Amino acid sequence: MTAKPSVLVTRRWPAAVEAQLQERYNVALNIGDQPMTPAEIRAALKTHDAVLPTVTDKLTAEALDVGASKARILANYGVGYSHICEASARNLDMTVTNTPDVLSECTADLAMTLLLMVARRAGEGEREAREGRWTGWRPTHLVGTKVSGKTLGIVGYGRIGQEMARRAHHGFGMEILVQNRSRIAPEVLAQCNARQVDSLEDLLPKCDFVSLHCPGGADNRHLINSRRLDLMKQDAFLINTARGEVIDEFALAQSLMFDMIGGAALDVFDGEPRINPTLVQCDNLVMLPHLGSATREAREAMGFRVLDNLEDFFAGRDPRDRVI
Ligand code: DGY
Repeated sequence: MTAKPSVLVTRRWPAAVEAQLQERYNVALNIGDQPMTPAEIRAALKTHDAVLPTVTDKLTAEALDVGASKARILANYGVGYSHICEASARNLDMTVTNTPDVLSECTADLAMTLLLMVARRAGEGEREAREGRWTGWRPTHLVGTKVSGKTLGIVGYGRIGQEMARRAHHGFGMEILVQNRSRIAPEVLAQCNARQVDSLEDLLPKCDFVSLHCPGGADNRHLINSRRLDLMKQDAFLINTARGEVIDEFALAQSLMFDMIGGAALDVFDGEPRINPTLVQCDNLVMLPHLGSATREAREAMGFRVLDNLEDFFAGRDPRDRVI
């Protein structure tokens, strides 16, 4: 009988998925659930057949500098993989997979939650009620912005961007503008009566809300910088459930403090879990701790999708979610 492949899981996963992993593989779990250091990742790559990372594992050139790796696959738990140095993974001839589709609806739900929260000043209201500062109903109290019928700009029209458009257009009657690197098929745009524009410069001045759904990584670092924030309407809102590095947070804090935009709502931060202290001071900012895919359903489905990818890989098939 051939030995089961050995698999290292870098964080705790939903119990049902960990149980399945243990049935099929020799599994090393991270019981303490602490992020691994580059040295620990290097050791894992030399001793296991597969490493199963998440967004909290920085698989930089340094962490992947192992000479030869025993592990031949990084089966990432999550759709985004900008935390994995692509050049180093390719040098090691490593297969990399991700978990698309199964989290798109829940991530779009959270983007819509953020959009509503920032427009209706829900964060400010919650803080006021909890802190005992509420003095009662009055016509001028915490007056926000109507969402229905407004224009939403979606940056990155992949699976999550399209789910966001569906919610905004069919649920809230919003007009959808899209900016995406490649051309989107007319029939896909037609599902939400969306219109694609050529550039962010075209998109930003036209929108009441802008929601980011593009990948992170070096190519999109500070895609939203001070020049582009200046192009937004003075009462427009920016929502980010993509990756923290897509926004220049220093520039965003300036725009928020000087009321150059209406507000922002962030689920992701550059260098998270650390949050830039200047941002924390901005009342017109809603913040959540990277909860996009955090539902029982999505988190289990993400784990089972990793299992499918591993099964294909160890059976000698190309995994369906191979990205490298
Ligand atoms: C994703 O799937 O990319 C989530 O942000 C967690 O990594």
